[in-house]
Amino acid sequence: METSKYTIKATRTKESKINEVDWDNIPFGRVFSDHMLVMDYKDGKWGEPEIIPFGDMGLHPATSAIHYGQSVFEGMKAYRTVDGDAVTFRPEMNAKRFRKSAHRMCMADISEDLFLYCLDELLKFDDEWVPKKHTNSMYVRPFMFATDGYTGIKPSETYRFMIFTCPVGSYYTEAINLKIEEEYSRAAEGGVGAAKAAGNYAASLYPAKLAQDNGFHQLIWTDAQTHEYVEEAGTMNILFVIDGVLVTPAESDTILAGITKRSVIEVAKDWGMPVEERKVTVKEVIKAIEEGRMSEAFGAGTAATIAPIKMIGFRGKEYHLPGVEKRTFSKKVVEDLDNMKYGRTEDRFDWVHKV
Ligand code: PLP
Ligand code: COI
Repeated sequence: METSKYTIKATRTKESKINEVDWDNIPFGRVFSDHMLVMDYKDGKWGEPEIIPFGDMGLHPATSAIHYGQSVFEGMKAYRTVDGDAVTFRPEMNAKRFRKSAHRMCMADISEDLFLYCLDELLKFDDEWVPKKHTNSMYVRPFMFATDGYTGIKPSETYRFMIFTCPVGSYYTEAINLKIEEEYSRAAEGGVGAAKAAGNYAASLYPAKLAQDNGFHQLIWTDAQTHEYVEEAGTMNILFVIDGVLVTPAESDTILAGITKRSVIEVAKDWGMPVEERKVTVKEVIKAIEEGRMSEAFGAGTAATIAPIKMIGFRGKEYHLPGVEKRTFSKKVVEDLDNMKYGRTEDRFDWVHKV
């Protein structure tokens, strides 16, 4: 038997809430599994991880994450396969990205090994919370925040790493309408756009709300300097099928390197489909829709999975895409990825990790 170099303490809740879950109707992010994992960093090293009942925790009023925003997170999912196993999808990529985000935010390093160990231990402990229904999954939220109780500005010396999980249904229940944003920016060159830093999401709320007040679901972010180039769509990467080519903005320090998008690209290449990762202009997107050369546009992200884009708003005009029923590529991609995740077909890329 394999033994781990880590040890963990675990305390089971006395009052499981699992029987209160309406599995046919789970809102995104509001139902929490019974336990969470907590691990503290001090004196230059991580302490022992601990699994404890899910619940509130006390914080020093000067907790530096609250004031100065040293806070990063990941978003991933666990699935129940047809054989009854709980699995995660490319978790090592989340572990790597988490490390990169923490590095950029000047926070404590956590090895990929330790991250993955903590993840598996919590998922094993709350195994019964991984939904059995294949339209549902378990959203997994690893995060780290600075815990120094200090009002001065400097990198914190102490951190807390945590993971909690939420059984979830769909994030978007319909095809989405997105507005191309030309006034506000999500990320600037040299900034923290490529990190999954909490503040990036706070900064996006106000411009997104303005668009939502006008009937859009989210924004298409453009580059901060010229607003001529498309970057991301809300909390998703954005992909287009133009003249039969899969086109998506190339990764940069203003774009989060998404695991869903990377997987879509690798599947498309495996099928022999031409793929272009490059700068994509707003102009060419609008022109391709107008000329009927854009057969599909969609957002790709863990929470939202593949979200078909119905309409793009630009300078007060609406640009409508072909009906969702005609989207052969994204439909096939979702099927292929789901088949791998739920163990219905062979995992030909070795992407699925059994917990
Ligand atoms: N871009 C942003 C800003 C996000 O928050 C996310 C979600 O995690 C993504 C892209 C998609 O990344 P992934 O597919 O790894 O979830
Ligand atoms: C994810 O897809 O994991 C995200 O980060 C989106 C989230 C902010 C709900």
